[in-house]
Amino acid sequence: MAFDIEMIKKVYSTMAERVDKAKEIVGKPLTLSEKILYSHLWEGNPTKAFQRGKDYVDFAPDRIACQDATAQMALLQFMQAGKPKVAVPTTVHCDHLIQAKQGAAADLKRANETSSEVFDFLASVSNKYGIGFWKPGAGIIHQVVLENYAFPGGMMIGTDSHTVNAGGLGMVAIGVGGADAVDVMAGMAWELKFPKLIGVKLTGSLNGWTSAKDVILKVAGILTVKGGTGAIVEYFGPGAKNLSCTGKGTICNMGAEIGATTSTFGYDDSMERYLRATDRSDIADEANKIREYLTGDDEVYSNPESYFDQVIEIDLDTLRPHLNGPFTPDLATPVGELGAKAKENGWPIKVDWGLIGSCTNSSYEDLTRAASIAKQAVDKKIKSKSDFGINPGSEQIRFTAERDGILKIFEDLDATIFTNACGPCIGQWDRSDLKGDEKNTIVHSFNRNFSKRADGNPNTHAFVGSPEMVAAIAISGRLDFDPMNDTLINEEGQEVKLDEPKGIELPPMGFAVEDAGYVEPMADGSGVNVSVSPTSERLQLLTPFIPIGNNIKGAKLLIKAFGKCTTDHISMAGPWLRFRGHLDNISNNMLIGAINAYNKKTNFVKNQLTGEYGGVPDVARAYKAEGIYSIVVGDHNYGEGSSREHAAMEPRHLGVAAVLVKSFARIHETNLKKQGMLGLTFANESDYDLIQEDDTINFLDLNEFAPDKPLTIEFVHKDGSKDIIKANHTYNQAQIDWYNEGSALNLIKRQNAS
Ligand code: F3S
Repeated sequence: MAFDIEMIKKVYSTMAERVDKAKEIVGKPLTLSEKILYSHLWEGNPTKAFQRGKDYVDFAPDRIACQDATAQMALLQFMQAGKPKVAVPTTVHCDHLIQAKQGAAADLKRANETSSEVFDFLASVSNKYGIGFWKPGAGIIHQVVLENYAFPGGMMIGTDSHTVNAGGLGMVAIGVGGADAVDVMAGMAWELKFPKLIGVKLTGSLNGWTSAKDVILKVAGILTVKGGTGAIVEYFGPGAKNLSCTGKGTICNMGAEIGATTSTFGYDDSMERYLRATDRSDIADEANKIREYLTGDDEVYSNPESYFDQVIEIDLDTLRPHLNGPFTPDLATPVGELGAKAKENGWPIKVDWGLIGSCTNSSYEDLTRAASIAKQAVDKKIKSKSDFGINPGSEQIRFTAERDGILKIFEDLDATIFTNACGPCIGQWDRSDLKGDEKNTIVHSFNRNFSKRADGNPNTHAFVGSPEMVAAIAISGRLDFDPMNDTLINEEGQEVKLDEPKGIELPPMGFAVEDAGYVEPMADGSGVNVSVSPTSERLQLLTPFIPIGNNIKGAKLLIKAFGKCTTDHISMAGPWLRFRGHLDNISNNMLIGAINAYNKKTNFVKNQLTGEYGGVPDVARAYKAEGIYSIVVGDHNYGEGSSREHAAMEPRHLGVAAVLVKSFARIHETNLKKQGMLGLTFANESDYDLIQEDDTINFLDLNEFAPDKPLTIEFVHKDGSKDIIKANHTYNQAQIDWYNEGSALNLIKRQNAS
């Protein structure tokens, strides 16, 4: 399980030289983000300065992490690449496929039964190709990475959008699609557009009810779900030093909710403390030797406006606790103001559940702060009005919290301790308290609250807060409760007030664990047999995509999506997670959550061949059966949310040739490119309104597909009239090669073979 100290020493041994060289070339002091980026160039020493937001750059990440839902497709793809071993240290974490229902023991047992085929597949592929394997129940990928693998100044990628969590330990850690991870596993460079930089200066110190979570809830309110797109958010200032390492992790984790490429913090004493507490003193010792290279230059932080593309300042002394939601994580409301807002908007005031944990907030500090509130409820004889569920982030955290009596406090409040896994955070939650799709409110300390995310119910209003605020609100059972000012009536009819939460940064007796749940791969896995049954419902070996080519004519509009269309709308999670390793089966969820702009319904689009309406996957299959390509049209920030490449592979599999939108979320755009299809944006946004339900689509100059050259598309309407529009794209030549080959993987395979 152990992190690879030799690898880290190697990274550090070249870091100073590369950073100094970059400084010379760029001609000015550097941010931490730039230091990490320039010291991880694929080419080694920097030779040129890159333009932020413009230049595509090849990088050499130090690590890869995959979770079970995305690892299936990533590893199915890697198996196609013809390599004996992964080229970069890689781990697989079984955390998404475990449904929360009765509690940890029963739920884990059920998951091991229902998903054994998938877990066995992941275990055997990991063993064969030299990948570290974390068993079901071992923990949530990002918590396990923070505890075991993250290191200051490192660069990692992960097939999950919250990979960014490792920024809490000073990394540049980026969520990617499985196809990107496969490139790096296969020993190739990883390409990224050199990000812009947003600086967040933190002053003061957290106090009272305010927590690290409130920093990012506030930042999300300022920047919105799109504000961080294409940028690294770098936190600095005296306030940053006053935060714990795991608090920094929480802030970086939810950077995914503002669309940021990643977020990071400079190496400081809190990180050193965390490294030593998690048995990694040797990394701390090495990091201390090059401390100034593991943080931004003083001049940058004294004059941030001159070095960042945007600067935000937050005073932790005056920051108020927030709850964000419902349905979007950037709708930030200070706790005391939420009651009025809820009444105004008709959000249910009664809170049914409080959920604590997830990869965002299950540190020792988080659990102790939330437990300090829960304990008061027990001590002051307040019966919790809502149900409680706890998802510890890892077995190490769970074991330590149990040893230290923290879990007992929650159990005394009748909380259900779920498996160390994602559970309700990804729709893996069998809620027994609702009969149908009743309107209801829940509060949780997770990161995302899109419609249906937690329980599949579109009428569940989910609000995101810190664990201690979730505990207080859940105990009160009311969304309008403000624990800083309001009182509660206990079982003896007395009026009682909750005191401020108190937390402990790191366990005074140290972390402990009996079985962390890690399986080391064999040194030589060449003899390991990986079998996939041809009749399996869960797994399907891949066949290469056939190139779409440069003659798309007579294509049909499949759907014009209206409004928000996240990867959850394109490829829903929840019950569909079981098909993440079977492309044909999971394609039956393609775009079923997207709203059809013409009738405002979901999964109800016109089949132009029959004139009848049907589900999106069915209509797509009907076009495919006739050899007709289809086109998807979308609004702004299309594909925001997760890094799942299924959201690109499914349309590719069902014959969608192009996705044309007002704007893309970065990871999804790249995923479309990797799968060898067209991801395009309207040159003129208002052209979205020209697209009609019965349109037939012709690409007029795809045979001249080239970097920086817009494409021309003709939309032939039902009455025979036409609109010809321009579509922009961001394909560079290498990405056009992917398109021409049918997919990036096809190209890797061909290069391997030659
Ligand atoms: Fe899992 Fe939710 Fe984190 S799905 S990885 S706990 S964002």
